[in-house]
Amino acid sequence: MYQSENKPKLTLFGEEISISPEFLRLLEKLRLRIPDSQKRMRETSKFMQTIDFSAQIISHFKKYKKPIKLLDCACGNSYLSFILYYLLTEIYYKQVRIIGVDVQENLIDKCNKISEEMNFDGLEFHCADINNYSPKDKIDGIYALHACDIATDYAIAKTINLKATAGFYASCCHRQISSQVLPEKSPFISELLRNTPFKEKVGAFITDTTRQLLLEGFNYRTKIFEFTPVRWTDKNIMLKAELVGKPSLTPKINAYYTFISKHQLKSILSNILKTSLDQD
Ligand SMILES: C[S@@+](CC[C@H](N)C(=O)[O-])C[C@H]1O[C@@H](n2cnc3c(N)ncnc32)[C@H](O)[C@@H]1O
Repeated sequence: MYQSENKPKLTLFGEEISISPEFLRLLEKLRLRIPDSQKRMRETSKFMQTIDFSAQIISHFKKYKKPIKLLDCACGNSYLSFILYYLLTEIYYKQVRIIGVDVQENLIDKCNKISEEMNFDGLEFHCADINNYSPKDKIDGIYALHACDIATDYAIAKTINLKATAGFYASCCHRQISSQVLPEKSPFISELLRNTPFKEKVGAFITDTTRQLLLEGFNYRTKIFEFTPVRWTDKNIMLKAELVGKPSLTPKINAYYTFISKHQLKSILSNILKTSLDQD
């Protein structure tokens, strides 16, 4: 994906990406850096996460002929959306509209300012809670990088309810489910759950599994994998969902119900599922 030599180089899908003055101007505004040495790891690690996350989205939409509409849930500083927008429009010549949504007004204002300065006509940001945000247009893909706790679940709900063809999620924390992973409920691994770091990891595995099963119940093909090496972030697990056929509830949803009942879990995803069923 990258080469660390004197002169920074960037490759995507085995091909070198030209680093234009415009790209360097964007990185400067975002305070990100392409790796050229081991120094300033923070700026370079954020950059590499966004490149590796972008690669997953680009790979899905590379063959799209129509304009692509994407929604970034919990965009924060929106490093990912800025880099992705640049790559899709300038390197892959796609027509793209990206909407970033976050509850923090100051960050949204900052992102809209950078987008204007860069003349990125198809990139805009809105201050809203993802759960209450309804885009006017049809959305093709939804992504959430390190959205806090149930904010990732809201992003998954948006994917299902807006019938998006793909969703990409890498969670930040998993408090809702982790707090329900208790030794008395899981006798086979009760000793393991005495240790906070292990409990958190088990909570993360269980959370992402509930999400995966829910998406599969709605006809999405899913994959869970490390989207970037751990040296760039230890929150490097991605759940990817791609719609197969029509968006609809299928008998596979029973696997979700069985799983949450077996582990005695209350998940926000169940409320989302109920609302979605009530609407149909
Ligand atoms: C750890 S930051 C990640 C930001 C960004 N995606 C990134 O990778 O740099 C989490 C963001 O989630 C936002 N957030 C949390 N809950 C949200 C919600 N319900 N709706 C919109 N934004 C939310 C926070 O304001 C924060 O900016």
